[in-house]
Amino acid sequence: MTDRYAVIGNPIAHSKSPVIHAEFARQTGQDISYECILAPVDGFRAAVDTFRAEGGQGLSVTLPFKLEACAYATQLSDRAQAAGAVNQLKFEGTDAFGDNTDGAGLVRDLQSNQRVHLAGRRILLVGAGGAAQGAIVPLLECHPAVLVVANRTVAKAQALATRFAARGPIRAATFEELDSRFDVILNATAASIGGECPPLPEAVYEDCSLAYEMMYGRGQTLFMEQALAAGAARVADGLGMLVEQAAEAFELWRGVRPETAPVLALLRSQL
Ligand code: ATR
Repeated sequence: MTDRYAVIGNPIAHSKSPVIHAEFARQTGQDISYECILAPVDGFRAAVDTFRAEGGQGLSVTLPFKLEACAYATQLSDRAQAAGAVNQLKFEGTDAFGDNTDGAGLVRDLQSNQRVHLAGRRILLVGAGGAAQGAIVPLLECHPAVLVVANRTVAKAQALATRFAARGPIRAATFEELDSRFDVILNATAASIGGECPPLPEAVYEDCSLAYEMMYGRGQTLFMEQALAAGAARVADGLGMLVEQAAEAFELWRGVRPETAPVLALLRSQL
């Protein structure tokens, strides 16, 4: 019998997850189906219960349900606990195992696809919302020289730096306080959605080998344009992160690691 998986969110129509997982399944010879579930904003739990009752084995969870998925899970991985959010659920009997593959997907995209070295490097993480929080522990596990979290509302960056202080060299800063250079700069803010860019001092980009936008789209965002203009050697968007976090989920569910490069190329050609 074909094993059932799905992505649940609201909205969900534009999700690329069905294409990604169909490609992974084809490539690895796994007999799975993968659909989209549009849940009402107040109907996450009921929709998940229905999917499980119908034999569903795992779910990818996207906005706005990542916190609710965390509450739904009966067990959490360390990285889901650290992120405070769940983007993958795996069902086994009455258990619902919650994981968060976003940060691992980011790190894998940076290291394997972008070929950026993170150990001993100075990393600037811009933003202190859910996307930033999910990235912190996986980034610290790469042993950077320092991870600076800068945010418009600095108190949120300070709260994250305090919370994760035991995990590695992390500190908080306002945008204005950033007076040194960084090897890798990651935009985890939602600024690009509104066509905006966090106001970072130009000096941060001088030795920057990669400025990375966690979102993705057809062209470059203002953040990517400004980074290049200010001296960043290279920019990348988050399409690779999307594919890599899905590969982590596929491995969690199926125990096989798919090849991501051909899927990334396919998605890029469809943007
Ligand atoms: P997500 O889950 O995508 O991280 P979020 O939790 O709402 O979304 O967080 C959005 C992040 O983008 C926050 O860090 C926010 O800064 P504030 O904490 O000061 O609100 C940041 N952000 C959104 N728009 C921004 C803008 N125009 N300039 C700079 N930062 C912005």
